[in-house]
Formats: sequence, C-alpha cells, structure tokens
Amino acid sequence: MTEFYKAARLEEIKEGELYAVEVDGEPVCLTKVEGQICAFTDNCTHISGPLNEGELEGCTLTCPWHGAQFDVRTGKVLRGPARQDLHTYSIKIEDETIFVGLPEEE
Ligand code: FES
Repeated sequence: MTEFYKAARLEEIKEGELYAVEVDGEPVCLTKVEGQICAFTDNCTHISGPLNEGELEGCTLTCPWHGAQFDVRTGKVLRGPARQDLHTYSIKIEDETIFVGLPEEE
C-alpha cells in the first residue's frame, strides 16, 4: 500500500529546476520534465550526495559530488560511479497540490 503526503504546490515546481522537500521525514527531490512532475530520493545512491544541488539537463541529472548521472523519469543510472538506480515515487495531483506516495509502514 502507498500513502500519499502533501509535498508542494504545483506552481512551485518549475520545468528544469530541482526542489528538495521532506515527505514524512524522507528526503525527496521534485522536478518537472516536459510537463511531467518527477519525484525521487534526494540522496545519490553512490554515497548520498544531495541531488537537489546537482545539474539537470533535459531528463539527465548529474550528482554534484562525483558526477553520477540518472534519468529523473525512471531513476535509472546512466553513468557511474553510482551503480544502483534511484528510488522514484509515485505522485498524485489534486487541487493544484502535489502529493508524493510513500510505501505505508506495517
Ligand atoms: S555521491 Fe553522487 S556520485 Fe558520489
């Protein structure tokens, strides 16, 4: 089961920009690519670099620490040193508000 938490107003998330938000204590990064909101963990899977401080070009995000690259739409690693894909979150938009889905705790 997934529980949805309020994360941001839709108008706050601009195309091509990165936003760090905390969703129920989880560091989440939000962005908009080609009109689609993407939500993924804000910690690089290499050694936890802050991805919201990275560079986004199209859908490719470069980690500010050692340059690993990820596709923000899928979380897939495009370039090392990271080897593990980013966790991506499902989102829901209601009344111009973005909700991020986290797995419900048992
Ligand atoms: S922490 Fe992101 S590439 Fe090393």
